[in-house]
Amino acid sequence: MSDFKFLTGSEDWWRQAVVYQIYPRSFADSNGDGIGDIRGIISRVDYLKTLGIDAVWLSPHYPSALADGGYDVDDYRNVDPRLGTLEDFDEMIEQLHRNGIRVIVDIVPNHSGSNHVWFQEALRSPKGSPARDRYIFRDGKGENGEIRPSELVSHFGPTAWTRITEPDGTPGQWYMHLFAPEQPDFNWDNPEVREDFLETIRFWSDRGVDGYRIDVAHALTKNLANGHLPERTGYDLSLVKHDGSDDLFDRDEVHEIYKSWRKVFNEYNPPRMAVAEAWVHPERRPPYASTEELGQSFNFDMLGAGWNPARIKSIADYNLGEAKKQGTSTTWVLSNHDVIRHATRLGLPDDTDFFRWYSPNRFNPGVDEATGLARAKAMTQLLLALPGSTYLYQGEELGLQEHLTIPAEQMQDPQFFRNPDVGFSRDGCRVPLPWARSGSSLGFGPGGAHLPQPAWYVDYSVEAQSGQKGSTLELYRELLRMRSELVCAEEMAWVRHWFNKNVLHFKRPNGWQSITNFGSKPVKLPKGRLLVSSKPLVDGKLGANTTAWLK
Ligand code: GLC
Ligand code: CA
Repeated sequence: MSDFKFLTGSEDWWRQAVVYQIYPRSFADSNGDGIGDIRGIISRVDYLKTLGIDAVWLSPHYPSALADGGYDVDDYRNVDPRLGTLEDFDEMIEQLHRNGIRVIVDIVPNHSGSNHVWFQEALRSPKGSPARDRYIFRDGKGENGEIRPSELVSHFGPTAWTRITEPDGTPGQWYMHLFAPEQPDFNWDNPEVREDFLETIRFWSDRGVDGYRIDVAHALTKNLANGHLPERTGYDLSLVKHDGSDDLFDRDEVHEIYKSWRKVFNEYNPPRMAVAEAWVHPERRPPYASTEELGQSFNFDMLGAGWNPARIKSIADYNLGEAKKQGTSTTWVLSNHDVIRHATRLGLPDDTDFFRWYSPNRFNPGVDEATGLARAKAMTQLLLALPGSTYLYQGEELGLQEHLTIPAEQMQDPQFFRNPDVGFSRDGCRVPLPWARSGSSLGFGPGGAHLPQPAWYVDYSVEAQSGQKGSTLELYRELLRMRSELVCAEEMAWVRHWFNKNVLHFKRPNGWQSITNFGSKPVKLPKGRLLVSSKPLVDGKLGANTTAWLK
């Protein structure tokens, strides 16, 4: 087990950390089976160190049927054999810690995978049994129970109910799944379920894991008592009640669970951190992030900000204010494994609803890639200068665009298959990384890649960008190196540019300044020493789509 003494101490390491999300199956493949693995991560520790991040967050690394890219967990206290062993995992922690990099893992508590021993036991056990009570089983309506219990729609469409065959071979009860049928929802009123997750958190904390990202953290507790079953059609935040009494999401009781987790986190030194993935109304985010609960909650607001300075400013003000009230720090996110890469998003006309845009335009996208990349770099540089922590997604440091032309038959995302009329897929941001200019999977591994890499990936490869002045990768390295020296008290103040609404400019207490030009005309730089700009200056001025730091 990992000897992580050298990383104890600083309890607050996460407050302004740069966290790099690894999607393990698409990061690096050590054995050529086309699937990234733990030894692949180990082989890239140097890369991560040189990049200059503070922590990695691993998307699920557990045994899984991969019905939803690993978010269908079959065993919470093990490593997927395709990814490696527990010994490999320990070695990975050891190596990362030795290089000053903390480790966050994903916890998926709303549902298990359908091959989990508990779900299999529930299928074998009779109606009303304790084994069934760990999940959400209900009788169907109609004479023979053939009509689903409610019209609840799954997040991946179409229905959230699947009927099982009873052990005696007859058609039987139905179970609820907010996501795919391979992801049965747990019944969080069941004490065994609660106990089991505490054990899981202890298991990984004992192995030296520093923190947790909590998947769909707002959905665990549901109002299903006395035959009540929600009939909602689809998951739309605007339909979710604001007062904690919604049937499905963000119910007040969910906070009891996280308070019990916090007690366990605090048994460790330093206390384990956690960050909630809670798609709730912004004013309902604070309790998840309180010091009595998870400590942080993702603020996804910048994902929808587009290239709009007024919106970005108000999002920054709001989230910094809320975090301060809660005694926590906010989290800046532009990309992750669920959304279209921000270099592509920002190359679309502002205000594009990118979920709607995707399916009719996949092969004819109309993306201005150069503008998208310039804006992506400028936005990332802006966010890296704000107080709070920043979550980066693997490949964004290479400036990767979304891969939009994956043939339908090679798609893996259940969201693509289960919503044929929407046709949205998350696979385009999950394509194995290009490490080299050549080789069967561009250095991803000695074999192929589980999702096809487009030809243009060659120019975005680590090899093509390393040591190249002006490359996205070298910009990220420089930004992160400088940031680690510049980071200071969690305060900022805007510098107003009364005559130019297209500029966002702010200062940190130590004199660190960030200025972004959202307009098309070059802007004069403020006083100070220029440290780094996301694009070269234009005649000594800050050009369009550019951020600069000064001190
Ligand atoms: C979260 C994950 C997503 C997954 C879903 C169900 O939103 O980020 O990838 O499909 O939860 O677990
Ligand atoms: Ca592999």
